[in-house]
Amino acid sequence: YRRLRVALLGAGAVGSQVAALLRKHGDELADRAGAALDLVGIAVRDLDAPRDTDLPRELLTTDPEPLIVGADIVIELMGGIEPARTHILAAINSGADVVTANKALLATHGPEIFEAADQVGASVYYEAAAAGAIPIIRPLRDSLAGDRVQRIMGIVNGTTNYILDRMDREGSEFSDVLADAQALGYAEADPTADVEGYDAAQKAAILASLAFHTAVPLDGVHREGITSVDKQMMDAARHAGYVIKLLAVCERLTGADGESISVRVYPALIPREHPLASVHGANNAVFVQAEAAGDLMFYGAGAGGVQTASAVLGDIVSAARRHIAGGVGVGESTRANLPVVPIGRVTTRY
Ligand code: NDP
Ligand code: HSE
Repeated sequence: YRRLRVALLGAGAVGSQVAALLRKHGDELADRAGAALDLVGIAVRDLDAPRDTDLPRELLTTDPEPLIVGADIVIELMGGIEPARTHILAAINSGADVVTANKALLATHGPEIFEAADQVGASVYYEAAAAGAIPIIRPLRDSLAGDRVQRIMGIVNGTTNYILDRMDREGSEFSDVLADAQALGYAEADPTADVEGYDAAQKAAILASLAFHTAVPLDGVHREGITSVDKQMMDAARHAGYVIKLLAVCERLTGADGESISVRVYPALIPREHPLASVHGANNAVFVQAEAAGDLMFYGAGAGGVQTASAVLGDIVSAARRHIAGGVGVGESTRANLPVVPIGRVTTRY
């Protein structure tokens, strides 16, 4: 096998599981990728922080730059905007393909990153950036590329679904279950991103950009979180035959002025018999309506370190295959110079 140098930035909830699985299944992954994936180092902030998996101490470093230079594949799992953005751009400019789960970064600096990748023929893979383990980026980008997506609707944040589900089923208090969601590795480093709907809005912007072949800016997404949902509201909803879920809706609208799109995130009353009402825990579900395909449903773990690592590892195999083919094949990042579709009216019906 040809050997590829893989650099990992971040060994938290997701990164520690990616490193462990890369090491555990190295031979199988090499067979699938057609190249040995040599994990050459793992950048972290604190060398002595406890890790979810056993990682060789000699792989850890607090200095990402030397890792990035000379890597064939850089996996960014640090989260946040900086220094993640700088490291990803450095990786692209040094000839690496990039794998990231960083929806906060892609929803705000995606065009800059994709443009940089297009300039040098690199690829940016980001299957884990929306809905955790659920394959939804590739279906929208590839499988449905010949269809016309009309609407995407679903639950795309695991933390808030976990919180709302436990409030509904156990009568738990918001603050208690938020702490559990953090301990289970579902929440963002700053959980405000989850409970105020920012994380779901970032994912909705990414999904809508792919589905509608445009660049949806984050500030075009209507966003409401779940911090105003209390026990009384949950009880009232239950007695009326509903459950409260944080929904993301992305729609193509056709009006007298032509087409526009609407992207919105908000807590909604869902009838108990609706399939979304039975999405429990940190699971996510995404319904896609396309003109020719009709209705499609994607369901599974929306958050969690090991579950999300599955999506990241799939991207690593794709990146390795493309890398050893000399960059042949369409990259994940061909999104530069997209037409801009106007943002249309916002409604909060589901
Ligand atoms: P964590 O906060 O658990 O881990 C972040 C890791 O990055 C830590 O190892 C941390 O080091 C390291 N790190 C952060 N900043 C720096 C820095 N400046 N220099 C070096 N290392 C740094 O995050 P997660 O693993 O939960 O998430 C990672 C990414 O995956 C995020 O973009 C997140 O949005 C995304 N994601 C997360 C999911 C989940 O369920 N958790 C699901 C889908 C996507 P140290 O450990 O030393 O502090
Ligand atoms: N904090 C995110 C969530 C992680 O709870 O959905 C997965 O993207």
